[in-house]
Amino acid sequence: MLVSAKDMLNKAREGKYAVGQFNINNLEWTKAILLTAQENNSPVILGVSEGAGKYMAGYKTIVGMVNGMLEELNITVPVALHLDHGSYEGAKEAMAAGFSSIMFDGSHYPIAENIEKTEELVGLTSAKGISLEAEVGSIGGEEDGVVGAGEIADPQECKQIADLGVTMLAAGIGNIHGQYPANWKGLDFVALAKINEAVAPMPLVLHGGTGIPDAMIKEAISNGVAKINVNTECQLVFRDATRKYIEDKKDLEGKGFDPRKLLNPGFEAIKAIVKEKMELFGSVNRA
Ligand code: 13P
Repeated sequence: MLVSAKDMLNKAREGKYAVGQFNINNLEWTKAILLTAQENNSPVILGVSEGAGKYMAGYKTIVGMVNGMLEELNITVPVALHLDHGSYEGAKEAMAAGFSSIMFDGSHYPIAENIEKTEELVGLTSAKGISLEAEVGSIGGEEDGVVGAGEIADPQECKQIADLGVTMLAAGIGNIHGQYPANWKGLDFVALAKINEAVAPMPLVLHGGTGIPDAMIKEAISNGVAKINVNTECQLVFRDATRKYIEDKKDLEGKGFDPRKLLNPGFEAIKAIVKEKMELFGSVNRA
């Protein structure tokens, strides 16, 4: 059964580790992430962007696929199905379809409007026992065609949003979706400490998990980060494994063209990267 992300994140924050949010794009990724979580006795959050939701035929299809896998693969670790960077309308749609966790990204609205919409969604999600992530200070880089400027969140604005009763808070601290540019200055730990002080014990969310050096990940976790989102790194290893299969001409041998064989190296690559991240984030054996 899908669960809200609330308990797993409160425990993570308390225990000074983080739960990984791994975004899904298809059946192979979903199966790879769920099996890896089970093998490592780790809680996990499956992230779905609105674009990935459309690609996979819609939120109901995803809820059906994930619930089916939980049962038929005997997944017993806590799993949350989370809408990533949801719009106001998307948040309501995903809730109705059966998602157990929602992110409403109102960071591009003026703060008063972000507060108003987040507050309404706090009421709707808490009535259904669904966890809610809010965002203050947009994350840099591009996601689903939306380009953020990579702001550093204002601690007082973070407190205003946290006090509405959200479950977890994504606050911009110089993090960027996708790959980091060579001249990236790193995470702003001064800003993170101020935000953490203002909203503690609220679990903080670090977006843009791809390409952040391990030492910075650990420092972020020791400053209140309890959820770390990873997407691009999974895309890169999936691409590389698929490319190698084709470059090695494995698709031309026997039944190598069978999509179950063709996509298997990518499936194994996702399993390996997810295990590596669970070890780094400290969520192994925390189920
Ligand atoms: P990356 O694509 O940089 O890993 O970021 C993922 C993310 O933050 C999804 O919300």
